[in-house]
Amino acid sequence: MKRVLSGMQPSGYLHLGNLVGALTNWVSLQEKYDCYYFVADWHALTTNYPNPSVIKEYTRDLLMNFLAVGLDPEKVTLFIQSRILEHAELHILLSMITPLGWLERVPTYKEKKEEIKELDIGSYGFLGYPVLQSADILIYRASYVPVGIDQVPHLEITREIARRFNFLYKTDVLIEPEPLLTQFPKVTGLDGRKMSKSYDNAIYLNDPPEVVEKKILTMVTDTQRKRRTDPGDPEKSPVYQLHRIFSTEEELEEVARGCRTAGIGCIDCKRILIKNVFKVLEPIWEKRKELSDNPSIMDEIIETGNEKARKAARETMELVRDAMGMY
Ligand code: TRP
Repeated sequence: MKRVLSGMQPSGYLHLGNLVGALTNWVSLQEKYDCYYFVADWHALTTNYPNPSVIKEYTRDLLMNFLAVGLDPEKVTLFIQSRILEHAELHILLSMITPLGWLERVPTYKEKKEEIKELDIGSYGFLGYPVLQSADILIYRASYVPVGIDQVPHLEITREIARRFNFLYKTDVLIEPEPLLTQFPKVTGLDGRKMSKSYDNAIYLNDPPEVVEKKILTMVTDTQRKRRTDPGDPEKSPVYQLHRIFSTEEELEEVARGCRTAGIGCIDCKRILIKNVFKVLEPIWEKRKELSDNPSIMDEIIETGNEKARKAARETMELVRDAMGMY
């Protein structure tokens, strides 16, 4: 079975956008591949080094979500990046052969440096972000890496680093991974912009039911539709955009027609959405409750996953050191 690897930064709580965008895809891949999924807590340090303890809390929560959305620890290997020290070893070796120019050229590097004003991220570690990511991937000799389109430049560097390593040391131990770009709908946030924690417009997987309900009930709709009797335009309503993702074809049809003809009110329309969002979230809430009531279950899964990942990483490092002729 070919290997798939992906990671997620513990930089906040997960929302519906992360679920639809990434995790659902991770779950479907577990049937076909030998999947390794991890929490990239070292990467989260690059932009949040003042608060490592927050990263720890998010790490635990992220792992809880991995399990709650249906990743099966019998099928996939779940682990924490910072517990597999071999990532750091490969990172330092790769850092020796990575030209600075490759890193300075990465679009996310310049953008983020401009974007994040409240913190100095002109660090060595932040510039080296893609090198660490390359180590994460190459150390498992993964064939495929499911990621969003924003990660493609990082994957390209990973491939270049692998090629350079293999060329320099006349070997083929490092495998050039391919991105698995999945077509998924962008999830609209409460305010009509893309759902994102930085816009404060998200529905989180750990929001309690009454919060989810309230968030949806207070969403803006078509602002031109002032009275219940005014016809509206569903395309102008972020509620309709969410129906597109969470509701059935018939319901979509029903709310669109109801909106255009003033046949249903915005509250009725939102009630249907709430019902469907709950349908997605209820099993997740249930599993999360089970896991938070029994912390030892998660501890054990993490321990087992870490050990399995460490073993695979060590095997690659043997080959890497051999190829380089290191001690
Ligand atoms: N950079 C990725 C992100 O922000 C997270 C990540 C770290 C990652 N290491 C990885 C993703 C290795 C895939 C493979 O989403």
